[in-house]
Amino acid sequence: MTDLTFGIDIGGSGVKGALVELDRGALVGEELRLPTPQPSTPDAVADVVAEILETFDWDGTVGITVPGVVIDGIVRTAPNIDSAWIGTDARELFAKRLALDSADVVVLNDADAAGVAEVRFGDARGRTGCVLVLTFGTGIGSALFIDGTLVPNTEFGHIEVDGDIGERRAAAAAREREGLGYQEWTARVSRYLGVLERMLWPELIILGGGVSKDAAQWVPLLRTRTPLAVASLQNTAGIVGAAAAACDARAK
Ligand code: BGC
Repeated sequence: MTDLTFGIDIGGSGVKGALVELDRGALVGEELRLPTPQPSTPDAVADVVAEILETFDWDGTVGITVPGVVIDGIVRTAPNIDSAWIGTDARELFAKRLALDSADVVVLNDADAAGVAEVRFGDARGRTGCVLVLTFGTGIGSALFIDGTLVPNTEFGHIEVDGDIGERRAAAAAREREGLGYQEWTARVSRYLGVLERMLWPELIILGGGVSKDAAQWVPLLRTRTPLAVASLQNTAGIVGAAAAACDARAK
């Protein structure tokens, strides 16, 4: 029997959800994307999550990502969504709003979810050693794997580079905000990656996030010591990884 779970990926501008087939790590049918409500308070976002699940008529296990640090279902940071998320027990909030048992709800960091999907279902599956997955979007998300095991909540988007927060200069949003061409932006990304490389010495860096769909235009411009790969699942990785994490938790 095919194992199906639902995945939801909450971002600064959109909330996306889809049914996921876990054998293949692929979406079943189309994803539904609704705008992130503004202000993006926990209750307002929970309403959007509920609307997505109602549309799919799904009332089973669900994995949900949040763009911040999440420990035991509690959100600890929220740089790109409403600050009311800080300290919110997101697992309880969603379980209540969705009328689910809290054991059926898993909440995790968005980049950790995307990373789980890449190392489990993408070209990097089975890779050993230190693998770093980075997502370039509103911020820079990071997921670090040691022999395939995730080190959660690494938050490498916030390392200091040239006296500034790394993601403020090198996220995809910085390129749009400042109207940078790929040449200028990749110079910043190379600089950012250089600082990370010197701290971590990863064996592979996988580049993901929305901008990875245009990878051919910018990845060849990057200068790094570490081998680079483009994310295989690209923009569906968060949804697939959220569903996979929910399924793992249910199996425990
Ligand atoms: C947040 C991370 C998140 C990343 C991508 C960063 O600003 O601190 O938790 O994974 O953005 O959304």
